[in-house]
Amino acid sequence: MNMPAKPNVYAPVITIDGPSGAGKGTICQNLANKLGFGLLDSGALYRLTALAVVQQGIDIANQEAVAKIALALDIQFETSEQGVQALLAGKDVSRDIRLEETGMNASVVAAYEPVREALLERQRAFQQLPGLVADGRDMGTTVFPNAVLKVFLTASAEERANRRYKQLIERGESANLRAQLKDILARDEADSSRASSPLKAAEDAIVIDSTTMPIQAVLDEIMLLVKQRITA
Ligand code: DC
Repeated sequence: MNMPAKPNVYAPVITIDGPSGAGKGTICQNLANKLGFGLLDSGALYRLTALAVVQQGIDIANQEAVAKIALALDIQFETSEQGVQALLAGKDVSRDIRLEETGMNASVVAAYEPVREALLERQRAFQQLPGLVADGRDMGTTVFPNAVLKVFLTASAEERANRRYKQLIERGESANLRAQLKDILARDEADSSRASSPLKAAEDAIVIDSTTMPIQAVLDEIMLLVKQRITA
């Protein structure tokens, strides 16, 4: 791993949690760039675990074996002009971790308590100066309960399906709006109903519903909160 082992408790953390397709990825990247903060894409850790499980021919139903993989993950994140590249055992797997199949497997391994525990310290180690933007489902509730600002970013399932659909079409991939909606609803159900760290807003989170908001308006609203909490 290209990260230090110990978190720096003086580094401010901004957590952005929410369901699939709410726009967290874009918002977090923008925020981290604007503030010069580090970025934790926690979903990528679950995706990398799922990919390593498949590559190593491990039975995905075996929680303990999957947790061992999570604990021993040999991963690096490299930032370049194209965004953040994810390396697994030195190989760029940025595309593989974004495949639908990897996403589905990631939601399976993310429901395993031993896997979540195995990834906890790795995630906390991202807390370094000058600060961190953490993107996920349980950033504000479990991983960084002392975050200086917690946002829960959501949007209606229909709008999230619509955004995904447009993204796929723009990338030249085939897509079906009804199938996207079905997939989003299935992920919502899996992420919210699991026993371990289910998707829910932290009590002290600020909920932003982006259904009718353009990305820039969401960013402006969050930057205002950042100014009040951190830079003021
Ligand atoms: O955000 P994403 O689609 O890359 O996340 C992949 C899967 O990992 C998804 O099923 C939700 C899960 N996840 C999680 O359980 N906890 C996190 N902090 C981040 C992602």
